[in-house]
Amino acid sequence: MHKVIFDTDPGVDDAMALLFLHQHPEIELLGITTIFGNAAIETTTRNALYLKQEWQISAPVAQGIGETIDPARPHVGWPTFIHGDDGLGNIGVPQTVTGSPDPRPAHRFLIDTIRAHPGEITLVAVGRMTNLARALNDDPQIATLVKQVVIMGGAFDVPGNITPAAEANIHGDPEAADIVFGAAWPVVAVGLDVTMQTVMSRSQLAAIAERGGERPALLARISDFYIDFYGRLVEDGMVVHDSCACVYVVAPELFTLRHGAIRTVCGGIADGQTIQKPDSRSFPPSAWDGLPSQSVCTGIDSAAVLALIDETLSRRPG
Ligand code: BDR
Ligand code: CA
Repeated sequence: MHKVIFDTDPGVDDAMALLFLHQHPEIELLGITTIFGNAAIETTTRNALYLKQEWQISAPVAQGIGETIDPARPHVGWPTFIHGDDGLGNIGVPQTVTGSPDPRPAHRFLIDTIRAHPGEITLVAVGRMTNLARALNDDPQIATLVKQVVIMGGAFDVPGNITPAAEANIHGDPEAADIVFGAAWPVVAVGLDVTMQTVMSRSQLAAIAERGGERPALLARISDFYIDFYGRLVEDGMVVHDSCACVYVVAPELFTLRHGAIRTVCGGIADGQTIQKPDSRSFPPSAWDGLPSQSVCTGIDSAAVLALIDETLSRRPG
Protein backbone atom coordinates (compact mmCIF):
# COMPACT_ATOMS: atom_id res chain seq x y z
CA MET A 1 0.00 0.00 0.00
CA HIS A 2 1.36 3.44 -0.91
CA LYS A 3 0.69 6.16 1.67
CA VAL A 4 0.20 9.35 -0.33
CA ILE A 5 -0.24 13.04 0.41
CA PHE A 6 -1.58 14.87 -2.64
CA ASP A 7 -0.48 18.49 -3.07
CA THR A 8 -2.76 19.99 -5.69
CA ASP A 9 -4.40 23.07 -7.26
CA PRO A 10 -7.76 21.75 -8.49
CA GLY A 11 -7.90 22.28 -11.41
CA VAL A 12 -9.54 19.95 -13.91
CA ASP A 13 -6.70 17.48 -14.50
CA ASP A 14 -6.04 17.66 -10.74
CA ALA A 15 -9.62 16.47 -10.18
CA MET A 16 -9.02 13.43 -12.38
CA ALA A 17 -5.79 12.69 -10.51
CA LEU A 18 -7.58 12.96 -7.17
CA LEU A 19 -10.23 10.48 -8.25
CA PHE A 20 -7.49 8.12 -9.43
CA LEU A 21 -5.72 8.28 -6.04
CA HIS A 22 -9.02 7.86 -4.19
CA GLN A 23 -10.08 4.82 -6.20
CA HIS A 24 -6.81 2.96 -6.72
CA PRO A 25 -6.73 -0.09 -4.42
CA GLU A 26 -3.01 0.19 -3.66
CA ILE A 27 -3.15 3.83 -2.57
CA GLU A 28 -3.99 5.11 0.88
CA LEU A 29 -4.67 8.83 0.64
CA LEU A 30 -3.59 10.43 3.93
CA GLY A 31 -4.19 14.04 3.06
CA ILE A 32 -4.84 16.66 0.41
CA THR A 33 -2.86 19.89 0.62
CA THR A 34 -3.87 22.78 -1.59
CA ILE A 35 -1.85 25.34 -3.44
CA PHE A 36 -2.66 28.29 -5.69
CA GLY A 37 -2.06 27.92 -9.42
CA ASN A 38 -5.00 26.98 -11.57
CA ALA A 39 -6.96 29.43 -9.39
CA ALA A 40 -6.48 31.41 -6.16
CA ILE A 41 -5.82 29.44 -2.98
CA GLU A 42 -9.34 30.07 -1.61
CA THR A 43 -10.79 28.62 -4.82
CA THR A 44 -8.52 25.57 -5.06
CA THR A 45 -9.21 24.80 -1.38
CA ARG A 46 -12.97 25.18 -1.88
CA ASN A 47 -12.67 22.88 -4.90
CA ALA A 48 -10.74 20.24 -2.94
CA LEU A 49 -13.41 20.32 -0.23
CA TYR A 50 -16.13 20.09 -2.88
CA LEU A 51 -14.53 17.03 -4.52
CA LYS A 52 -13.97 15.45 -1.09
CA GLN A 53 -17.67 15.92 -0.36
CA GLU A 54 -18.93 14.69 -3.74
CA TRP A 55 -16.61 11.67 -3.87
CA GLN A 56 -16.79 10.74 -0.17
CA ILE A 57 -13.06 11.11 0.40
CA SER A 58 -12.11 10.72 4.05
CA ALA A 59 -8.64 12.33 3.87
CA PRO A 60 -8.41 15.84 5.36
CA VAL A 61 -7.80 18.95 3.26
CA ALA A 62 -5.16 21.42 4.50
CA GLN A 63 -4.98 24.83 2.90
CA GLY A 64 -1.65 25.97 1.55
CA ILE A 65 0.02 29.21 0.96
CA GLY A 66 -1.51 31.74 -1.43
CA GLU A 67 1.71 33.29 -2.68
CA THR A 68 5.13 32.33 -3.99
CA ILE A 69 7.99 31.47 -1.63
CA ASP A 70 9.58 34.79 -2.57
CA PRO A 71 6.69 37.21 -1.93
CA ALA A 72 8.41 39.82 -4.11
CA ARG A 73 7.87 37.68 -7.22
CA PRO A 74 5.19 39.34 -9.44
CA HIS A 75 1.85 37.52 -9.61
CA VAL A 76 1.00 35.65 -12.83
CA GLY A 77 -2.78 35.53 -13.59
CA TRP A 78 -4.99 32.43 -13.25
CA PRO A 79 -5.50 30.24 -16.37
CA THR A 80 -9.29 30.65 -16.38
CA PHE A 81 -9.35 29.90 -20.13
CA ILE A 82 -8.16 26.34 -19.36
CA HIS A 83 -9.75 25.50 -15.99
CA GLY A 84 -12.69 27.95 -15.94
CA ASP A 85 -13.42 30.84 -13.56
CA ASP A 86 -14.23 28.36 -10.78
CA GLY A 87 -11.17 26.19 -11.49
CA LEU A 88 -13.42 23.22 -12.24
CA GLY A 89 -14.61 23.86 -15.77
CA ASN A 90 -17.36 26.37 -14.90
CA ILE A 91 -19.75 23.69 -13.66
CA GLY A 92 -21.08 26.06 -11.02
CA VAL A 93 -19.23 24.82 -7.94
CA PRO A 94 -21.20 26.09 -4.90
CA GLN A 95 -19.53 28.99 -3.09
CA THR A 96 -19.79 27.15 0.20
CA VAL A 97 -19.37 23.43 0.73
CA THR A 98 -19.79 21.22 3.77
CA GLY A 99 -16.64 20.48 5.70
CA SER A 100 -13.79 22.78 6.51
CA PRO A 101 -10.05 22.55 6.12
CA ASP A 102 -7.71 21.07 8.71
CA PRO A 103 -6.71 23.82 11.16
CA ARG A 104 -3.04 23.46 10.20
CA PRO A 105 -1.53 25.20 7.19
CA ALA A 106 -0.48 22.76 4.46
CA HIS A 107 3.25 22.90 5.18
CA ARG A 108 2.65 22.08 8.87
CA PHE A 109 0.28 19.25 7.89
CA LEU A 110 3.01 17.89 5.60
CA ILE A 111 5.66 18.02 8.32
CA ASP A 112 3.42 16.41 10.97
CA THR A 113 2.24 13.61 8.68
CA ILE A 114 5.73 12.85 7.34
CA ARG A 115 7.06 12.71 10.90
CA ALA A 116 4.21 10.42 11.96
CA HIS A 117 5.11 7.92 9.18
CA PRO A 118 8.90 8.04 8.76
CA GLY A 119 10.08 6.48 5.50
CA GLU A 120 6.57 5.70 4.32
CA ILE A 121 5.10 8.78 2.66
CA THR A 122 5.00 9.46 -1.07
CA LEU A 123 4.32 13.12 -1.83
CA VAL A 124 2.54 13.61 -5.13
CA ALA A 125 2.77 17.31 -5.98
CA VAL A 126 0.95 18.56 -9.07
CA GLY A 127 0.89 22.32 -8.59
CA ARG A 128 3.41 24.98 -7.59
CA MET A 129 6.07 23.51 -5.27
CA THR A 130 5.54 26.24 -2.67
CA ASN A 131 4.08 24.09 0.15
CA LEU A 132 6.88 21.53 -0.20
CA ALA A 133 9.56 24.23 -0.21
CA ARG A 134 8.01 25.87 2.82
CA ALA A 135 7.90 22.55 4.69
CA LEU A 136 11.58 21.99 3.84
CA ASN A 137 12.53 25.48 5.00
CA ASP A 138 10.76 24.95 8.34
CA ASP A 139 11.98 21.38 8.91
CA PRO A 140 14.84 20.37 6.56
CA GLN A 141 15.06 16.93 8.19
CA ILE A 142 11.80 15.81 6.56
CA ALA A 143 13.81 15.23 3.36
CA THR A 144 15.32 12.16 4.99
CA LEU A 145 11.94 10.89 6.20
CA VAL A 146 9.99 10.88 2.91
CA LYS A 147 9.91 7.77 0.72
CA GLN A 148 9.73 9.70 -2.54
CA VAL A 149 8.39 12.85 -4.14
CA VAL A 150 6.63 12.53 -7.49
CA ILE A 151 5.89 15.84 -9.14
CA MET A 152 4.03 16.87 -12.26
CA GLY A 153 6.24 19.63 -13.49
CA GLY A 154 8.97 20.71 -15.82
CA ALA A 155 9.80 20.60 -19.50
CA PHE A 156 13.22 19.04 -19.99
CA ASP A 157 13.72 18.12 -23.64
CA VAL A 158 10.56 19.78 -24.99
CA PRO A 159 9.18 23.34 -25.08
CA GLY A 160 7.26 24.67 -22.09
CA ASN A 161 3.56 25.41 -22.04
CA ILE A 162 3.52 28.86 -20.47
CA THR A 163 6.66 30.17 -22.15
CA PRO A 164 8.88 28.41 -24.70
CA ALA A 165 11.17 27.61 -21.75
CA ALA A 166 8.89 26.79 -18.83
CA GLU A 167 6.08 24.53 -17.71
CA ALA A 168 3.31 26.18 -15.66
CA ASN A 169 3.78 24.49 -12.27
CA ILE A 170 7.47 25.37 -12.20
CA HIS A 171 7.05 28.81 -13.76
CA GLY A 172 4.51 29.68 -11.06
CA ASP A 173 7.18 29.43 -8.35
CA PRO A 174 10.69 28.70 -9.72
CA GLU A 175 12.48 29.42 -6.43
CA ALA A 176 10.29 26.81 -4.69
CA ALA A 177 10.98 24.24 -7.41
CA ASP A 178 14.73 24.80 -7.10
CA ILE A 179 14.51 24.12 -3.36
CA VAL A 180 12.51 20.92 -3.93
CA PHE A 181 14.86 19.55 -6.61
CA GLY A 182 17.88 20.39 -4.49
CA ALA A 183 16.74 18.62 -1.32
CA ALA A 184 18.07 15.22 -0.29
CA TRP A 185 14.85 13.34 -1.00
CA PRO A 186 14.29 11.32 -4.17
CA VAL A 187 12.30 13.35 -6.69
CA VAL A 188 10.76 11.99 -9.88
CA ALA A 189 9.71 14.72 -12.33
CA VAL A 190 6.84 13.77 -14.59
CA GLY A 191 6.91 16.69 -16.99
CA LEU A 192 5.58 17.79 -20.35
CA ASP A 193 8.08 15.43 -22.04
CA VAL A 194 5.69 12.60 -21.22
CA THR A 195 2.36 14.17 -20.24
CA MET A 196 1.76 15.89 -23.58
CA GLN A 197 1.75 12.48 -25.24
CA THR A 198 -0.88 11.15 -22.86
CA VAL A 199 -4.31 12.23 -24.02
CA MET A 200 -7.67 10.83 -23.00
CA SER A 201 -10.35 11.36 -25.60
CA ARG A 202 -13.71 12.88 -24.72
CA SER A 203 -15.38 9.66 -25.82
CA GLN A 204 -13.19 7.49 -23.57
CA LEU A 205 -14.04 9.71 -20.61
CA ALA A 206 -17.74 9.45 -21.48
CA ALA A 207 -17.45 5.65 -21.60
CA ILE A 208 -15.76 5.65 -18.17
CA ALA A 209 -18.60 7.78 -16.82
CA GLU A 210 -21.08 5.28 -18.26
CA ARG A 211 -19.40 2.36 -16.52
CA GLY A 212 -18.26 4.06 -13.30
CA GLY A 213 -21.40 5.99 -12.34
CA GLU A 214 -21.72 9.33 -10.53
CA ARG A 215 -18.09 9.95 -9.61
CA PRO A 216 -16.59 9.86 -13.12
CA ALA A 217 -19.80 11.42 -14.45
CA LEU A 218 -18.99 14.52 -12.38
CA LEU A 219 -15.40 14.36 -13.63
CA ALA A 220 -16.62 14.24 -17.24
CA ARG A 221 -18.81 17.32 -16.66
CA ILE A 222 -15.85 19.15 -15.07
CA SER A 223 -13.57 18.17 -17.96
CA ASP A 224 -15.67 19.40 -20.90
CA PHE A 225 -14.37 22.98 -20.70
CA TYR A 226 -10.73 21.81 -20.43
CA ILE A 227 -11.19 19.50 -23.42
CA ASP A 228 -12.59 22.43 -25.41
CA PHE A 229 -9.24 24.17 -24.74
CA TYR A 230 -6.90 21.19 -25.17
CA GLY A 231 -8.94 19.89 -28.11
CA ARG A 232 -7.32 22.68 -30.13
CA LEU A 233 -3.87 21.23 -29.45
CA VAL A 234 -4.68 17.51 -29.45
CA GLU A 235 -7.50 15.49 -31.04
CA ASP A 236 -10.69 16.19 -28.97
CA GLY A 237 -9.23 15.03 -25.70
CA MET A 238 -7.59 16.02 -22.46
CA VAL A 239 -3.91 15.92 -21.61
CA VAL A 240 -3.90 14.05 -18.31
CA HIS A 241 -0.86 15.83 -16.84
CA ASP A 242 -1.49 15.27 -13.16
CA SER A 243 -2.80 11.71 -13.45
CA CYS A 244 0.51 10.68 -15.06
CA ALA A 245 2.30 11.50 -11.80
CA CYS A 246 -0.23 9.41 -9.85
CA VAL A 247 0.16 6.46 -12.21
CA TYR A 248 3.94 6.61 -11.69
CA VAL A 249 3.40 5.80 -8.00
CA VAL A 250 1.72 2.46 -8.73
CA ALA A 251 3.24 1.59 -12.11
CA PRO A 252 6.75 3.07 -12.46
CA GLU A 253 7.60 0.39 -15.03
CA LEU A 254 5.50 2.35 -17.55
CA PHE A 255 8.07 5.18 -17.53
CA THR A 256 11.69 5.60 -18.64
CA LEU A 257 13.89 7.67 -16.35
CA ARG A 258 17.04 9.74 -16.72
CA HIS A 259 19.06 10.53 -13.63
CA GLY A 260 20.96 13.66 -12.69
CA ALA A 261 20.86 16.88 -10.69
CA ILE A 262 18.14 19.37 -11.65
CA ARG A 263 18.25 23.16 -11.42
CA THR A 264 15.48 25.64 -12.08
CA VAL A 265 16.24 28.93 -13.78
CA CYS A 266 15.02 31.78 -11.56
CA GLY A 267 14.60 35.03 -13.50
CA GLY A 268 15.34 36.27 -16.99
CA ILE A 269 13.80 35.11 -20.25
CA ALA A 270 14.09 31.43 -19.29
CA ASP A 271 12.41 31.96 -15.89
CA GLY A 272 11.09 28.60 -14.69
CA GLN A 273 13.09 26.45 -17.09
CA THR A 274 14.13 23.08 -15.66
CA ILE A 275 17.55 21.76 -16.65
CA GLN A 276 19.00 18.40 -15.73
CA LYS A 277 22.69 17.53 -15.78
CA PRO A 278 22.62 13.85 -16.72
CA ASP A 279 24.83 11.72 -14.46
CA SER A 280 26.26 10.16 -17.62
CA ARG A 281 27.85 13.49 -18.67
CA SER A 282 30.70 15.37 -17.10
CA PHE A 283 31.24 19.12 -17.25
CA PRO A 284 33.59 21.68 -15.78
CA PRO A 285 32.46 22.97 -12.35
CA SER A 286 28.86 24.18 -12.56
CA ALA A 287 25.78 25.16 -10.55
CA TRP A 288 24.64 21.51 -10.59
CA ASP A 289 27.62 20.24 -8.57
CA GLY A 290 26.98 18.70 -5.18
CA LEU A 291 23.22 18.41 -5.65
CA PRO A 292 21.36 15.10 -5.36
CA SER A 293 20.72 13.06 -8.48
CA GLN A 294 16.98 13.22 -9.27
CA SER A 295 14.90 11.43 -11.89
CA VAL A 296 13.26 12.87 -14.99
CA CYS A 297 10.71 10.90 -17.02
CA THR A 298 11.87 10.84 -20.62
CA GLY A 299 9.59 8.08 -21.89
CA ILE A 300 6.10 6.76 -21.19
CA ASP A 301 3.87 3.92 -22.33
CA SER A 302 0.91 6.24 -22.82
CA ALA A 303 -1.53 3.53 -23.92
CA ALA A 304 -0.87 1.51 -20.76
CA VAL A 305 -1.09 4.63 -18.57
CA LEU A 306 -4.45 5.55 -20.09
CA ALA A 307 -5.68 1.98 -19.68
CA LEU A 308 -4.81 2.05 -15.97
CA ILE A 309 -6.53 5.41 -15.51
CA ASP A 310 -9.58 4.03 -17.35
CA GLU A 311 -9.72 0.91 -15.19
CA THR A 312 -9.28 2.86 -11.94
CA LEU A 313 -11.80 5.60 -12.67
CA SER A 314 -14.35 3.00 -13.80
CA ARG A 315 -14.36 1.21 -10.44
CA ARG A 316 -17.66 1.61 -8.66
CA PRO A 317 -17.55 2.30 -4.92
CA GLY A 318 -18.20 -0.55 -2.51
C1 BDR B 1 0.13 21.67 -15.01
O1 BDR B 1 -0.36 23.00 -14.84
C2 BDR B 1 -1.68 22.98 -14.35
O2 BDR B 1 -2.47 23.84 -15.08
C3 BDR B 1 -2.17 21.57 -14.51
O3 BDR B 1 -3.10 21.23 -13.50
C4 BDR B 1 -0.92 20.74 -14.43
O4 BDR B 1 -0.60 20.44 -13.10
C5 BDR B 1 0.44 21.43 -16.47
O5 BDR B 1 1.45 22.29 -16.90
CA1 CA C 1 -2.27 20.79 -11.29
